[in-house]
Amino acid sequence: MCGIVGYIGNKKASPILIDGLLKLEYRGYDSAGISTMENGFISNMKDKGRVKNLYEIPGIDDLKGVVGIAHTRWATHGKPAKENSHPHMDNHNIFSVVHNGIIENYQELKEFLVQNGYHFLSQTDTEIIPNLIHYYYVKQDKCHDSLLKAVHLACNDLKGSYAIEVLCKDAPDTLIVARKDSPLVIGVGEDENYVSSDIPAILSYTKNFYLLNDGDFAKLSKHSISFYDVNLAPIEKELKSIEWDVSACEKDGYEDFMLKEIYEQPKSVRETIGSRLKKGEKVNFEDIGFTKETLQHFHKIYLVACGTAMHAGLAIKPMLEKLCHIDVIVDIASEFRYREPLIDDKTLCIYISQSGETADTIAALKLSKMKGAKTIAISNVIGSSITREADYTIYTHAGPEIAVASTKAYTSQITLLALLCLYFAEVLESVPYDVINTIKEELLLLPEKVSEVLKDSEQIKNFANKVYEEKDIFFLGRGTDYTVSQEASLKLKEISYIHSEAYAAGELKHGPIALIENGITVVGILTDPNLVEKSVSNLQEVITRGAKTLIITNQEINQTNYDEVITIPYTNPLISPILSIIPLQLFSYYISKEKGLDVDKPRNLAKSVTVE
Ligand code: M6R
Repeated sequence: MCGIVGYIGNKKASPILIDGLLKLEYRGYDSAGISTMENGFISNMKDKGRVKNLYEIPGIDDLKGVVGIAHTRWATHGKPAKENSHPHMDNHNIFSVVHNGIIENYQELKEFLVQNGYHFLSQTDTEIIPNLIHYYYVKQDKCHDSLLKAVHLACNDLKGSYAIEVLCKDAPDTLIVARKDSPLVIGVGEDENYVSSDIPAILSYTKNFYLLNDGDFAKLSKHSISFYDVNLAPIEKELKSIEWDVSACEKDGYEDFMLKEIYEQPKSVRETIGSRLKKGEKVNFEDIGFTKETLQHFHKIYLVACGTAMHAGLAIKPMLEKLCHIDVIVDIASEFRYREPLIDDKTLCIYISQSGETADTIAALKLSKMKGAKTIAISNVIGSSITREADYTIYTHAGPEIAVASTKAYTSQITLLALLCLYFAEVLESVPYDVINTIKEELLLLPEKVSEVLKDSEQIKNFANKVYEEKDIFFLGRGTDYTVSQEASLKLKEISYIHSEAYAAGELKHGPIALIENGITVVGILTDPNLVEKSVSNLQEVITRGAKTLIITNQEINQTNYDEVITIPYTNPLISPILSIIPLQLFSYYISKEKGLDVDKPRNLAKSVTVE
């Protein structure tokens, strides 16, 4: 949560900082602010609300500074208000700091600072940081590198997570950054350097990046970057070149990132399959290289994640169990981490995270490593925190996902998990080869089939326009269709603010059917030939009680029973969520648009949940 940007070079910093913040706004949009170095003093301009509000601040266009830091906030400590906006300055206006993360011991540090004569203007945890830096700075009698040392000493006192940028009035040509459990990258230009919470925000300026690890510090000038470890010993870092196209981070003619990302799915699914699966060949996971003995050693597999990524785990559980004959437990990271799960060295734990920065998922991964489990990270972001913790990492290669509502990441996560499952089954020889082969053929056909599903958008839009004023919408399905219902319901909630529930269709009679009343909307997903008759009966029960129905199916059903039927291409039920979710992503999208909401930045949410 929260996005930070920094610049040091020869150009006017403020437009670069604001441009970066606009691209990071998906991380939080409660307030925004920038600090720039202006002729020997630090200018600090900030306000509550969206980044665009910064343009309204008098004098912001007159800023000339070529060094600066910036922040867009997702409020944790203290309400969205100007005084709680970042950057925060110390009492003597020597330091300006932006921070992403949570300082857990801030009360204790605040008391310490108050006893030492400091006062506070905000309710944030962050405001202690510039003051703590100041406290150590004055203790250092301005010896060589006292700024870096003061930042280091202050960070040593912090408990919790942080990515910080520090500007100091006394060192106008220097920017100090540090990270622990919150993301931070440094982009390298010619006679200029950039800092950001993620790569896409500064991809239009450079494709060359340094990735900071937990505990790292960096000192930047426009010509140089020096890296230091947790003990402030100098370290070397490898410069990485990022392949992403700049247009991947722009809307590219689409009204919203979410719509663009929905339409990118033929490509993203194809990229996820990449070279891992080729016609007639074995699935390639050389990078993991498990032997039959290694896989047989595992007694169970945990799939752990949050939100949509957890739903991708739910979607693939039936396939893993059916093809690999192994117990699979899908768990919510925030529950798993506090529950003493029964894991040991005979457990394989797979962590799924688009951003690779989700605090609960990272903590769950660390816990399972401590208990001796083998860990695999599935992420979309190269070098993200989760990938640095896990024993093995595999990337979805879906391209940057900017909209808060996850779409293409979900279909790519299921695709990658399906490939991994086929690889396990091949190595284990747990099912006849023709079973594996049929699913492989189906997987290779998916990009084409995703394109076909996307052609039905008008039909979905029309139905969405009929029901956008509803107060409740229910989703029903069985088997993998139930898992899609859960994801569809989450999507609808987060961008349309309509209350919604997903139920396993067979559970209806055990209580939820009491909620069905005349005129209510029920969405049914019917893609598994073995379960379709059962689900049709359950749908009949809600129709009898007055529900209007939208059906997503690849089966031959009596269409006249329903208000709207979207027919999608057939694929193996074990991987059908990759197709059946797409009309429902569009359904949520069009409802949100019809309600006039901000699709890409729904209220109260942020893309990366880097705090627990
Ligand atoms: O980056 P991650 O995949 O770890 O994020 C997990 C969830 O926060 C995320 O999927 C969230 O549920 C989305 N907003 C759903 O659209």
